[in-house]
Amino acid sequence: MDRRLLIVSNRLPVTVRVADGHATVRRSVGGLATGLQGPHERSGGLWIGWPGTVEGLSASALADVDRQLAELRTVPLSLDANEVSTFYEHISNGVLWPICHDRLDQLPLSVDGWDVYESANAHYSDAVAEHYRPGDVVWVHDYHLMRVPALLRERIPDAKIGFFLHIPFPNPEIFFTLPTRRWLVEGMLGADLIGFHTRRYHGHFRAALRRLFSIEADAQGVVPWKDRRVRLGVFPMSVDAADFAQRAAAGDVIAKVAEFRKPHERLLVGIDRLDYTKGIPRRLLAIERLLTSHPEWKERVRLIQVAVPSRDGVGAYRRFRGEVEAAVGRINGEFATPNWTPIQYIHRSVSSTILLALYRAADVMLVTPVRDGMNLVAKEFPASRIDEDGVLVLSEFAGAADELRDALIVNPYDIEETAEAIHRALTMESSERTRRMRALRATVREHDVHRWVAGFLSALEG
Ligand code: ADP
Ligand code: F6P
Repeated sequence: MDRRLLIVSNRLPVTVRVADGHATVRRSVGGLATGLQGPHERSGGLWIGWPGTVEGLSASALADVDRQLAELRTVPLSLDANEVSTFYEHISNGVLWPICHDRLDQLPLSVDGWDVYESANAHYSDAVAEHYRPGDVVWVHDYHLMRVPALLRERIPDAKIGFFLHIPFPNPEIFFTLPTRRWLVEGMLGADLIGFHTRRYHGHFRAALRRLFSIEADAQGVVPWKDRRVRLGVFPMSVDAADFAQRAAAGDVIAKVAEFRKPHERLLVGIDRLDYTKGIPRRLLAIERLLTSHPEWKERVRLIQVAVPSRDGVGAYRRFRGEVEAAVGRINGEFATPNWTPIQYIHRSVSSTILLALYRAADVMLVTPVRDGMNLVAKEFPASRIDEDGVLVLSEFAGAADELRDALIVNPYDIEETAEAIHRALTMESSERTRRMRALRATVREHDVHRWVAGFLSALEG
């Protein structure tokens, strides 16, 4: 693409953290940030978003942070305390996130602050308008910014605007619990192209358009909206498979793999943000069931569960942490021996060397969300397995399950079935493991993040 690309997302691909007056600029965790990082580096454009809360820095330290962000071609947009608590924590992560993941049980009883959601979206739109040059393509991402396409269209009527939703679009029955459902969808329709990960989410959105506005997409997936035409499409996001394969072969990764693996022990691995959509409590129950139904695995299998701290300003996330940690303690207390602990729980972010070494060391990778838009961990795992070994146990409720059919697909709500799938993975013949892993790797290589970006942007240009 020759045009300049302006990526707009709530969070930048790097987050600034301030401790004792010192700032560090680190890669952000989460599928959107990790997936779009490579395309941004290659595009020569700008990425507009929030770098996290930057407070308590001297003028020179702040100038240093600004210099680092500018070198990465990122445009930091600061959110004030009310925007962080109302727009980011309360509305985006306290209301839209659970609704789009079918978790009405996680909703707060009362919801206010849509005006702050609107003004924060206007704030992002103003920043885009300020940096926009005629001919640029604007690509807006995710549920925090559903109003941006329409607000930006008011500011720059001729702009090429794409919108991609990284999380599920739920069944209209659930989406319609939002009093603001019409206004949010009108916001998205300001775009020229709206992309979803799967056919199911796309279908839900079309059903919502039918019910809200009595409009129907034609055979090309185009809907009439005001005096424009808006295209809808399915673009399953992916990872940079070649880059993972290359980094997974590094000497420091291989050295770590040797440290993690113990003789006579099989390794299960889970890597997630600590989020109630990721299915961690039921995964732990499946481990408990495995050890009860197949006691031969006692002292012979270990789960390393990395749970990256996430959104701890939101009540539902704080409560969820307590639930996970209680389950880990209870199960370890029940089964551990002086020589062995079944669940090793790591509640922090890990370096990319450790992340890759965990992917490579896993006999079985457990990706069992109760609902997930895509889940890139499920794709990073096979991309890293250059040895063509390892088994992926994958929830049918992750968007990735539509493509990764050679995983062992499970219903994470069915603890018994998940426990048996783990047992099957642990006892699988090496020839079957290789056959499945080769097929998973081929899928991820062929449908990588470059294809995702090219597919979306060419549909937008078209
Ligand atoms: P989500 O977007 O909901 O967080 P995904 O599975 O799509 O879920 O993406 C998670 C991303 O975060 C992956 O790219 C993964 O590599 C990255 N990630 C997860 N855990 C860590 C960690 N501890 N350190 C660094 N990156 C991590
Ligand atoms: O990919 C889904 C997503 O919600 C991104 O939009 C987000 O940046 C990421 O997960 C991590 O969440 P947060 O930005 O709230 O830390």
